Amino acid sequence: MASSDPVQTGLLVLSDGEFRRIRSLVYERFGIHLADGKRSLVQGRLSKVVKSRGHRSFTEYMDDLERDGDIAKLLGLVDHLSTNHSYFFREPEHFEFLTAEVLPALERDGVRPEELRIWCAGASEGQEPYTTAMVILDYFGRSPAGSQPLILATDISVTALEQANRAAYPAAVLSSIPARYRKYITQTDAQTVAVNDAIRKLVLFKRLNLHQERYPFHGRFHVIMCRNVMIYFDAATKTQLVTRFQRCLTDDGYLLIGHSESLGRSVEGYRYL
Ligand SMILES: C[S@@+](CC[C@H](N)C(=O)[O-])C[C@H]1O[C@@H](n2cnc3c(N)ncnc32)[C@H](O)[C@@H]1O
Repeated sequence: MASSDPVQTGLLVLSDGEFRRIRSLVYERFGIHLADGKRSLVQGRLSKVVKSRGHRSFTEYMDDLERDGDIAKLLGLVDHLSTNHSYFFREPEHFEFLTAEVLPALERDGVRPEELRIWCAGASEGQEPYTTAMVILDYFGRSPAGSQPLILATDISVTALEQANRAAYPAAVLSSIPARYRKYITQTDAQTVAVNDAIRKLVLFKRLNLHQERYPFHGRFHVIMCRNVMIYFDAATKTQLVTRFQRCLTDDGYLLIGHSESLGRSVEGYRYL
């Protein structure tokens, strides 16, 4: 039988106070709400990290984090606590909506392909922006002039962004990619596939914390995709976030959120489609 005794499982003891301390730091800095039920996840994922840094307790680890405020260490913390799960063509209705509604509407409004601006906020390991790039390239039948990045893909997780920039994935990902889009992926060996350069060129990856007051953008986006990210946030954080998104969208812009997500009642300025 599995043991929940920290000594037997090799986990460090996580006291109530330590859990509260981690929880408030992660909430204040990243907007991520760790519910009570996440306690064993925190203990499980962080015990190894704490020990590998040479600390004997969560208190020592937190003292160290708060003392030097090192952003890299903080990002390491959030990296271990968030889930980067994603896959190509996740929630395919969004991509069908892009080709059936959004791109034709933008064309009618005179937006040229190379002027298109899309932001994948919480892009994880790149599957979502690369899927979007495949759909756009396929729609126009050619690379938009200059092939400059049309898609800004941001995430808080440094390791997810490294993986996204590598653009290499297990060959099993092919099974979720419809046949007509597989031409944008090359099998590099029996186990691995790589996203082709024509797709990679359309995406620019940057680290960005969504839970910050201002975003460093000049222009506005025609589409913001923030899918399966707000599940980490409480209602107040979500409202702040979607209000900030509004300032980053064109007047007729679209915000795509995950199927299981909603905006909350207090949010104005959006119309559900
Ligand atoms: C479950 S993944 C979703 C990936 C993709 N959007 C999808 O739907 O497949 C959630 C992502 O949100 C990111 N995230 C969580 N909190 C964040 C924050 N405060 N700022 C930026 N990204 C954040 C995580 O690092 C993770 O990669």
